Amino acid sequence: MLVSAKEMLTKARDGHYAVGQFNINNLEWTKSALQAAQECNSPIILGVSEGAGKYMTGFKTVAAMVKAMVESMGITVPVCLHLDHGSYEGAKACIEAGFSSIMFDGSHYSIDENIAKTKELIELANARGISLEAEVGSIGGEEDGVVGAGEVADPAECKMIADLGVTMLAAGIGNIHGKYPANWPGLRFDALEKIHEITAGVPLVLHGGTGIPDEMIKKAISMGVSKINVNTECQLAFAAATRKYVEAGKDLEGKGFDPRKLLAPGAAAIVDTVKEKMEMFGSVGKA
Ligand code: G3H
Ligand code: ZN
Repeated sequence: MLVSAKEMLTKARDGHYAVGQFNINNLEWTKSALQAAQECNSPIILGVSEGAGKYMTGFKTVAAMVKAMVESMGITVPVCLHLDHGSYEGAKACIEAGFSSIMFDGSHYSIDENIAKTKELIELANARGISLEAEVGSIGGEEDGVVGAGEVADPAECKMIADLGVTMLAAGIGNIHGKYPANWPGLRFDALEKIHEITAGVPLVLHGGTGIPDEMIKKAISMGVSKINVNTECQLAFAAATRKYVEAGKDLEGKGFDPRKLLAPGAAAIVDTVKEKMEMFGSVGKA
């Protein structure tokens, strides 16, 4: 059974750790992430971007696959299936498809429009008992066609959105999707402090989890971040392990070209990456 993110994030906030959101792209990705969560006895949020949803032939396919895998793999830890950086239409489609959580990324709208659309979606989400993540400010860089300017969120706007009753709030605090440039000045902890203070306990979300130094992650968790999104790092780990296998000529030995063998090193690398992150976020043993 899939669960909303509400309970797992409330526990994370109170217990001073964070739950990882790991983006999925296909069956192998999903299987690896679920395996890591089960072996770590950790709650997990599976993130699906609109692009990844399309790639997997639609949100209904994704929901059916994840539900079936949770059952057939005997997964007992809490699993939340969450739309990542969703549009208004995408959020509605995921509610219909059976996701247990949605993100509505209205950060590119005016604050009034962001509020109006977030409010409508909260009503729909509440009616189904699913969680909703909203965004204020923006995350720099690009992820699956979602481009952000990297504006640091205005605490007053964060409060307006938090007061609508969102389950969790993503606020731009200098974080970036993808790899961080060498001259990145770091997270804006001054902004995080104000946002945490003014939003009174709403679990905060840190996007762009790939490549943020461990000490910054830990400091952010201590300052109210309860959910951390990781995508690129799993992709890099998958690509590196697959390249190593191919460059060693393993795909040409015996039945090494069988996709179940060819994709195995990459899948194992995702398991390792997810486990490392869970360890760092402090969610191991918290299922
Ligand atoms: O929404 C997903 C993320 O924010 C992941 O960011 O690809 O930099 O790890 P990342
Ligand atoms: Zn993101």
